[in-house]
Formats: sequence, structure tokens, C-alpha cells
Amino acid sequence: MRERLEALKKDVLAELESIEQVSQVQELRVKFLGKKGLLTEILRGMGKLSAEERPLIGQLANEVREVIESKLDETKNLLDQAEIEKKLACEAIDVTLPGRMFHIGNRHPLTLVIEQIEDIFLGMGFTVAEGPEVESDYYNFETLNLPKDHPARDMQDSFYITEEILLRTHTSPVQVRTMEKMKGEVPVKIICPGRVYRRDNDDATHSHVFTQVEGLMVGENVRMSDLKGVLLAFARQMFSEDARIRLRPSFFPFTEPSAEVDVSCMFCGGHGCRVCKHTGWIEILGSGMVHPRVLEMAGYDPEKHTGFAFGMGVERIAMLKYNIDDIRHFYTNDLRFLKQFNRV
Ligand code: PHE
Repeated sequence: MRERLEALKKDVLAELESIEQVSQVQELRVKFLGKKGLLTEILRGMGKLSAEERPLIGQLANEVREVIESKLDETKNLLDQAEIEKKLACEAIDVTLPGRMFHIGNRHPLTLVIEQIEDIFLGMGFTVAEGPEVESDYYNFETLNLPKDHPARDMQDSFYITEEILLRTHTSPVQVRTMEKMKGEVPVKIICPGRVYRRDNDDATHSHVFTQVEGLMVGENVRMSDLKGVLLAFARQMFSEDARIRLRPSFFPFTEPSAEVDVSCMFCGGHGCRVCKHTGWIEILGSGMVHPRVLEMAGYDPEKHTGFAFGMGVERIAMLKYNIDDIRHFYTNDLRFLKQFNRV
């Protein structure tokens, strides 16, 4: 029996030499040490041994089992390790391979221009306010000194949802909503960017939905020269350092006096070209001193406080700044157009 045990040990060691896979270690374990394995088989003969021999052989059998077990474990560890190394070797990253390029989206040009406008006015102490796109007739018209049947309502053809509710035709209702919230406090210094809707036929310069930025400043002694100063600072930062502006008399029911504001043509510097129709000027926004009745309706005393307001079309500003010839480019989402504003 002693010889058989020794032989068994040798066999295991010999077989271990030639195995290559971890799974084979388990097979060997079953073959030699399993319930029906070779060692068990040998040990079945223990019964026939003499009482002196039995403990000796028992001890030897344990030793053999231990040796076999530790050899099996050792081999398994080696094979496991080898496998990990092999895996690591073939998963190695080749840092010299050129990277795969993928397209990173960029912000929409209108968003970029709104952000530029906001930055400029934030720099002058304005804050950003917002209001609903679905607006009441009351805020869109009445509180802006445009009672029902006022002929000036025709200036802004509207999308009505009910008799009293419409898609706002301008951002001016946010003026009133803000003043109501401020409850007579001054100064009010806000700009309100947002989408507006008008019943227009879409073409290269008209869109039934477009974007405006409204501005409002109310306080003591706010004068038209303040309006002019603020808008000049805006034009210089938006277009060019030597931009000039001029105010032309105009009419809006919610401002008195009212003015259209022109900026010196950014294409020819004011000398006259095709874009400015050889006038040297380009109209960029409407403005004026807030009408006393508007102040009153919003809870301000026009004897104590005055204010100016203006409203500009963001698409128009963007078209002038980036020489875009068709307003529809902003809405058709052609990537060839949108991608050009990647680094603006
Ligand atoms: N709300 C006017 C428009 O949409 C613009 C404007 C705003 C004019 C504020 C004067 C003052 O045409």
C-alpha cells in the first residue's frame, strides 16, 4: 500500500506537469481525491492492514493527500495568474492609435446671441426676467395702453386661443408683470428674453415665431438720455467699438415719446452700402419712455417715477452680426448652418 500511495503521488505530479487549463486541475482533483477517486480506492484496503501498520499508512495517506492538494492549488494559482497576464497582454491599449472623432453639439446661434445680450446688460446692472408665452389679452395689450378696438392692435396680428388668451405678440407684458411684482419699488432694471408670436407670412425676414429681448428701467429721474446711453453701450459691445446710434421719432402706444433706434451700418461703417440701402444706418429696435398710463396701471406713480423701455428682435441682431441672409435658417436646423457657430 505504501508503494501504491507513493506511486499515486508521482502520478499526480507527472500529470500536473502537462496540464494547461484551470479546468483540468479540477478534473485531476476529482480523479485522485474525489469520493470515487484513486486515493479513496487505495484506502479501501486499510481494513486488511494490521493494527500496527494502520496508523502509519493512515499518516502517510494524509501526507500524500496534503501534498497532492497543495500541488493542485499551486498549479491552479499559476494557471490563474497566467490567464490574467495573457488577458492583460491582449487588452493592452495602443496609445499611438489615432482617436475616433465624434461630433460634439454646440449651442444654437439664437441661444448664443441671447446669452451675449444678457451678458452685456447684466454688466450694466440689469437682471433677467421671464414671463409666459401664453398670455392674457390684459397683459399683452390692455395694461400696455392698448384697449380693445385700439387701432394700434393691428400693428401686431395675433394668434388668439380664446377671446381673452393669446400667444404673446411681444415681450412687453413682462414689463407690467415685473412692475406689479415690485409693488412700486425702484429701481426696476430688467431685460426679458423670450419667444413671441405674430400672424405673419414667413419669408426671408419674417417668421410667425421669433425671439425678442425687452428692456425696462424705472426709477427716479430716468431720462431719455439714459435710454440712449444704455443702448449706445449695448451697440458698441454687440457690434463694434465705434458703433454709433441714432433715435428716430416713432410711435408705440406704451411709450411716449417713442423712438426707433438705428445703429451705424456694421457692414460699411456708415459710409453706405447695399445692406443699409446707402443710408449708413440700420434699424435695430423700438424704444421710448414708458407711458405714464402704463406706469400707473402697473402700480407706479408717474409723478415720482419715470422709465424707459425697448424691445429688439434677436434674430435680426444675429442676422446683422453674423451676416445671415434668411431668418428661416434659425428654424430649419440644417447642421451645416448650425455648426458654423461652434466657436462664436
Ligand atoms: N413691444 C414693441 C414691439 O414688439 C417693441 C417695444 C418695446 C417698443 C418697448 C418700445 C418699448 O414692437
